[in-house]
Amino acid sequence: MTEALRQDSVLFQHAMAQLAQKKGITLDHHQQRLITRLEAVSAPWLTSSGQKKTYCGLYIWGEPGRGKSFIADAFFHWAPLAKKKRVHFHAFFRELHQLIARGGSVNQAILTAIGDCQLLCFDEFHLHDIGDAMLIKPLLELLFQRGVLLIATSNHPPEDLLANPLYHQRFVSSIALIRQQMEVIALAGEKDYRTLSHEEHGPFSTGGLLLNGDQALRQRLGLPQSAPAPLALQVGYRTLQTLSPAQDFLHFSFSALCEAPTAVMDYLQLCDRYPQWLIEEVPELARVSPAVQQRFINVIDVLYDRQCRLFLTAHSPLPRLTRGVELEDIQRTFSRLSLLPVYQ
Ligand SMILES: Nc1ncnc2c1ncn2[C@@H]1O[C@H](COP(=O)(O)OP(=O)(O)O)[C@@H](O)[C@H]1O
Ligand SMILES: [Mg+2]
Repeated sequence: MTEALRQDSVLFQHAMAQLAQKKGITLDHHQQRLITRLEAVSAPWLTSSGQKKTYCGLYIWGEPGRGKSFIADAFFHWAPLAKKKRVHFHAFFRELHQLIARGGSVNQAILTAIGDCQLLCFDEFHLHDIGDAMLIKPLLELLFQRGVLLIATSNHPPEDLLANPLYHQRFVSSIALIRQQMEVIALAGEKDYRTLSHEEHGPFSTGGLLLNGDQALRQRLGLPQSAPAPLALQVGYRTLQTLSPAQDFLHFSFSALCEAPTAVMDYLQLCDRYPQWLIEEVPELARVSPAVQQRFINVIDVLYDRQCRLFLTAHSPLPRLTRGVELEDIQRTFSRLSLLPVYQ
């Protein structure tokens, strides 16, 4: 961090006030409080006054669309620290597993993944599988030992992480560590701003949800037609089936993408190669198994984070597609898909 940066930087509160003004939005009082706490907790990292650290970071949780990523990302960009890293949980855990698979210890893999950052923003601190969850404790311990400022966002309070009763007990000590070392703050506004706002949300939201199979519309949108038979697409060691040659669009049926044993790793790799996706025939999700629902949730998480442009075809409007799904993460999926223009 340079002296010049420190001197030039305004308070985060001021930077946020300016950003809100520029976007024409009003920060709600939950958001104002979060901004104040972010400023207070991070002060020892950002000032040279030798101030004592009260916490090693902040754990921000709340329902989708409350502004968690908005504020955490703004903090990330604003924070006058030279070495900072922002990660998204799917990509981060895949990277860690790959590093571990190449040999070496878990700690070594974690150190390679975090590098020498002073600030780590961990967007969507969500855990679905015990393999990921078991990496959290060594990750937190290393981050805290090394004095890295950690800002995590999640849809769940720490106590609800890895809720599966089969595994939860094994995660209790990590929850205690979060509670001890991080300030836990809820962003509990009533509105899902994502569903309300009409601002530009990036390429993801320039796709659409098509509720009828009108060929003229598909043509107008530049969407591909299905080939006479499915085509094989190699991703790592796995072969996926696509509906047309992977050119402008990566073109899947819902069943080939979510009912086959595909994995987050596949979606991450494909996103790097194909920025536009078309997923056909998304069913009412309550009718498919929780494993299939979870794959669809993961696909949408990855496409949203990587800002791929997404088109879906379905026979039911969005509320019916997600209605009756018990996995809590479906709220996040709903919030994200609500950004897609609907063509009916
Ligand atoms: N106070 C606000 N007024 C209007 N829009 C807002 C406000 N706070 C956040 N937003 C917008 O709402 C959208 C969702 O916010 P985001 O931070 O992605 O939510 P999440 O809590 O799910 O991470 C973003 O486009 C963001 O710019
Ligand atoms: Mg978010």
